[in-house]
Amino acid sequence: MSHLFEHNGASGRGYSQPDPIYPVDNLQIPSSLVRSKLPRWPRISEPEMVRHYTWLSNRNFGIDTGFYPLGSCTMKHNPRVNEVIAQLPGIADLHPLQPEHQIQGTLAIFHEMQEMLGICAGMDAVTLQPVAGAQGEFTAIRCFQEYFRSRGELNRTKVIVPDSAHGTNPASASMAGFEIVEIPSQADGRLDLDALRAVVGDDTAAMMITNPSTLGVFEPEIAEAAAIVHDAGGQMYYDGANFNAILGRTSPGIMGFDAVHYNLHKTFSQPHGGGGPGSGPIGVKSHLAEFLPGPIVERREVASGDTLTTVNDEWWYHWQEPAHSIGKVQQWHGNSGAVIRSWAFYRRYGKDLKTMSEHAVLNANYLRHVIMKEAEEKGVSHVFCDGAPVDVVKHEFTLSLAPLKEQKGLGAMDVAKGLLDKGYMAPTVYFPLIVPECMMIEPTETESKEVLDEFARKFIEVLQEDADVLHNAPVTTKVRRVDEVYAARNLVLSYPFDE
Ligand SMILES: Cc1ncc(COP(=O)(O)O)c(C=O)c1O
Repeated sequence: MSHLFEHNGASGRGYSQPDPIYPVDNLQIPSSLVRSKLPRWPRISEPEMVRHYTWLSNRNFGIDTGFYPLGSCTMKHNPRVNEVIAQLPGIADLHPLQPEHQIQGTLAIFHEMQEMLGICAGMDAVTLQPVAGAQGEFTAIRCFQEYFRSRGELNRTKVIVPDSAHGTNPASASMAGFEIVEIPSQADGRLDLDALRAVVGDDTAAMMITNPSTLGVFEPEIAEAAAIVHDAGGQMYYDGANFNAILGRTSPGIMGFDAVHYNLHKTFSQPHGGGGPGSGPIGVKSHLAEFLPGPIVERREVASGDTLTTVNDEWWYHWQEPAHSIGKVQQWHGNSGAVIRSWAFYRRYGKDLKTMSEHAVLNANYLRHVIMKEAEEKGVSHVFCDGAPVDVVKHEFTLSLAPLKEQKGLGAMDVAKGLLDKGYMAPTVYFPLIVPECMMIEPTETESKEVLDEFARKFIEVLQEDADVLHNAPVTTKVRRVDEVYAARNLVLSYPFDE
């Protein structure tokens, strides 16, 4: 059974509903709204439906099935306690329109999350509204725009991005109407301050950058970069997708940033991929707080005479709209399930989050080292080179397979497909664009030494495969090599019924 609609179960239908409490006729539904035909629901029984979804899930590859070293996307283990908490009826069964006094517990969680995110990034105010990192970028850039408008600085029309930037950075800024100015990186992938100095000016609205960069390299001159942009009157935006590398050790606030997005679905666990579910809150310095999208949770002291039900005797929580908000970027209060999971994760690990980041960095450096060593021992070190020739990387690293392309005509995509046949999710390929035939590897903190050693061994095995084998890979997966561009451009999202 490949599709629910193709299965006409012998049972006819797999559900039974209780009789309505009120006779349908009494509901006075206007005749124009009453169905003339029955909906085309699949007609299968419950066991058949369970089999269908189990079959589908078995065709998938996820962090729960194997090692998933997808650079930049930080696919980390989702502790199951997160799910237990997110599914508590007092949390999962709430309606977004419920009055504040009935949802004080959830508001307290949201408030604590805002506070925690603000503290760990060195920011003064946080909104939990955006539901993806990219949406957080757009939201923050819009806040910059309103800030400049409020000061009459309409001349600030340009946003600077390094050439190692994630594609969403220039995309978000141009969606908000800014012109993009790209600056080249130095040979080791680091930010080039002279290139930055050459482009800043009265028309600079902001610089967007992640640190560590998408090459997994920490920018030691970031404070100086911030000073250059600030001196020119611009704002600094921190792409927080790589926050997993620095949490608890330093912060965007310390580095001189004015705004940051957090990919809760990367740094603070929980499953993601394929477009969701995610959450991309943003934090800002105080001068931008009035522009944030609301609602934001505020905490007030309980005053004598207050009769509200509170989570404790001291505080009550309520929704608040910032004074000059850019408006909502998401319906209701953002992706609350994702916020709750990340809150559970943070509550469970607390100060250990610093150790988490240290382990993420250790694992990346260890894996990089073992791959290099293994390659040398097996005599295949000539087919790839470091994407960023630095001694120590942060939570991820890049390799260039350009030599392999030259020598055997095999590209990063062929090696990625070969890794699928070894039972791994392929690392990120062809990003960042400045590394030719790039392969970007991010192991995350929860993988053991054994898993990393084995991956390094298999990686080198793949590099030793015959060109024919890799050109044809994968051969063990449910689907063979697909035309990704065709698939992305020709999405089929609905079932093609005959009539
Ligand atoms: C560096 C970087 N910035 C931004 C994003 C966008 O985040 P999201 O996928 O949550 O929209 C990503 C996602 O992979 C990223 O790696």
